[in-house]
Parts: sequence; structure tokens; C-alpha cells
Amino acid sequence: MQHGVLNQIPADWVALADYEQAAQQVLATDRWAYLQGGCVRPWHAVEASAFSGYQLLPRPLRDLRGGHSQVELFGQTLPHPFLLAPVAYQKLFHPAGEQATALAAQVSQTPLLLSSLASVSLQQIRHASTAILWFQLYWQGNRERSLALLRRAEHAGHQAIVVTIDAPHMGIRDRERRAGFQLPPEVQAVNLTPYCMPELGSDQHTLFDGLMAQAPTWSDIAWLVQQTHLPVLLKGILHPDDARQAIDLGIQGLIVSTHGGRVLDGVVDGLQMLPKIRAAVNTELPVLFDGGIRCGADAFKALALGATALLIGRPYIYGLATAGALGVAHVIKLLREELEVTMALCGTATVAEINLDYLVQK
Ligand code: FNR
Ligand code: LAC
Repeated sequence: MQHGVLNQIPADWVALADYEQAAQQVLATDRWAYLQGGCVRPWHAVEASAFSGYQLLPRPLRDLRGGHSQVELFGQTLPHPFLLAPVAYQKLFHPAGEQATALAAQVSQTPLLLSSLASVSLQQIRHASTAILWFQLYWQGNRERSLALLRRAEHAGHQAIVVTIDAPHMGIRDRERRAGFQLPPEVQAVNLTPYCMPELGSDQHTLFDGLMAQAPTWSDIAWLVQQTHLPVLLKGILHPDDARQAIDLGIQGLIVSTHGGRVLDGVVDGLQMLPKIRAAVNTELPVLFDGGIRCGADAFKALALGATALLIGRPYIYGLATAGALGVAHVIKLLREELEVTMALCGTATVAEINLDYLVQK
């Protein structure tokens, strides 16, 4: 269990790595394994090597007055390009869970993508903060149940719907079980109504006719977009043709993501696909990116490769586990400052100016 969440940040915590180290010390081994969990290959090595494949090419001596790291998303001006990725069951990491994260999101003006598997109720989060909330929707087996969840998110004031498409069914993953992890009774997906899989005939396949028959398909996505006035984004897009298909169906934003390497062993690294997806969609819609962003230089590289804005996952959970809302807010502040310093040193005054001219591929 947790040993003492800090209410003051030690003066020598100056980078995300400090939070990662502290979180490992504070969290029980099985929760740490769930948080870090990824492919058979160490996730860190995969993503770190993706980022280290690019080097920054600075252009000094420019006049950068008036510079900032603001971005525009769906008509809203955000002070920096970071958003909080959907992370399930946050009460595993702090007693107040998503409620503490929402508070940090509010004070730092950072949109929070709330997981379908949140461990705090939609109402409680809405009452606890005025943060910008986007709802991450996991398909609920059929249209009726998925629509009911969408309506509840709308009702709770969420401003966008993010459909995660790369983890079609949790039943497929058994990595947590291998790490000896089980959800404790006090941490549950409190916003969902459990449902069972229909009985299968003896000639039917458990995976293809069972679990996957409850996963969404393109026609469900097309239908879902018609059900709401909110922008709908797809999280987990990796193929440029899928990006085009999404646009044709009325999707308003894409998130290039490999789910933090948690779902498919051997998957391509998202950073490699990012410029290809940007090229496929041109400037038609925002393309967000997540996976492995751990410092300002990583963020700069992802923006240069075509991202409109960036999600961080594990890093803010390190902040949450060690110092609650304060820790989350500090992690965001550190990343923002590092990005702005990187921008200044590279000679870019705005996020829009960051492009491939500032990268060299090794
Ligand atoms: C996740 N992620 C995730 N994604 C999603 O769409 N719904 C979810 O419920 C979750 N849950 C979740 C739990 C935990 C513990 C982690 C670490 C991740 C994936 C997440 O949104 C994001 O894609 C990755 O975490 C990004 O990579 P980094 O920033 O963690 O390297
Ligand atoms: C995960 C699921 C919940 O990555 O999305 O753990």
C-alpha cells in the first residue's frame, strides 16, 4: 500500500525521472507492475530508442519575443500542448484517485481524458473540479450500452469523446495476472455496468465470435459519430489509411498511440507512424500523440514530427502516487518548462513553428 503521500515537493525533484524513482518506492510491487506493464520487450527501451533516433538542430540568435507554447484545440486556447492521457483505476495510486488528478488538471489548465475505467464517479469528479474533461470511451459490447455511457459523459459536461480502438477487449490481456495483480475491492470501474458475454455455440470461436464480436467496428464508429454533437476522436490510430477512413466518417481528431506498449507485443513505435499520419490527413484535423514522452526534448520531437498536442500517461501517475494533485501539477509544470526551454534554445517562438527543419534523423 501507499506509505505517506507528500504534501510538499522536495527541492531536488527537478525532472520526471525523480518522480518515477519515488513512485516505485511508494507503490506496492504489484501496482507498480500494473502501472509500468507493457510488452515483453521493456517498454522504456522501445520508446526511448524511438526518440533517440532523432536529434535537435537548433537555430540560435533569433528574436523570440512574444513566444509561448499555447495550442488551439477544438476552438479552445490551451496554455501548453500537454493533456493527461486516460489512465484506468487511479485509486490504485492515490486514495483520492481521479479526483486529485482533476484538481491538478484544473489548476494547470490541462485537459483530463477521463478513462471509462475511472475509479471515481463522473458526478464526483465534476463536482470536485472545473477542469476541461474529455471522456475516453471503451465500447460497451453493443450500441445501446455504449450510447448510455456516452450520454452520461455528455451530461457530466465532458467536451470531447475519445474512443480507444487499440484495446478491443480487456479479456484478451492477461499480463496483469502474470504480474500477480488483482484489483482490490475498493478500486472498481464505478461508472460502468458489468455485462456478460452471450453464450456461444459449440462451433463458435471464443475469441473471434465471442470477445471480438463485442468490440466496435468501423460501422459502429460511423454510427457513434452521428449520436453526439461533441467532437469524437479515435485513440490508437497507427495506419495512414485508417486515419483517412476516420476522417471520412466524421471523426474530428486522432491520437497516434500504442497504448503505452501495453496491448500488442511487437507493435510499431508510434513516433515512426506520426509523420506518415500527419501527411495522410494534412492539416484537416488535430493529430495528438502519446507514448514515452519523458522530457521537453521528447515533446519537441513529437511536435516536430507532426503532433498538434501531446498526452502523457505514466509520468503524471508518478506525480499522483508520490504527491497527489500537487505532484501531478508539478509534473506538468516541469514538462512545460522543459519544452519551453527547448523551444527557446532551438529558436522556435511558437508550437506552430516547430517542424522537421529542427530535427536530424540519426
Ligand atoms: C493506460 N492507458 C489507457 N488508455 C485508454 O485509452 N484507456 C485506459 O483506461 C487506459 N488505462 C491505462 C492504465 C495505465 C496504468 C497506463 C499506464 C496506461 C494508456 C494511456 O492512455 C496512454 O496511451 C499511455 O500511457 C501513453 O504512454 P506513456 O505516457 O505512459 O508512456
Ligand atoms: C490499461 C487499460 C485499462 O491499459 O486500458 O491498463
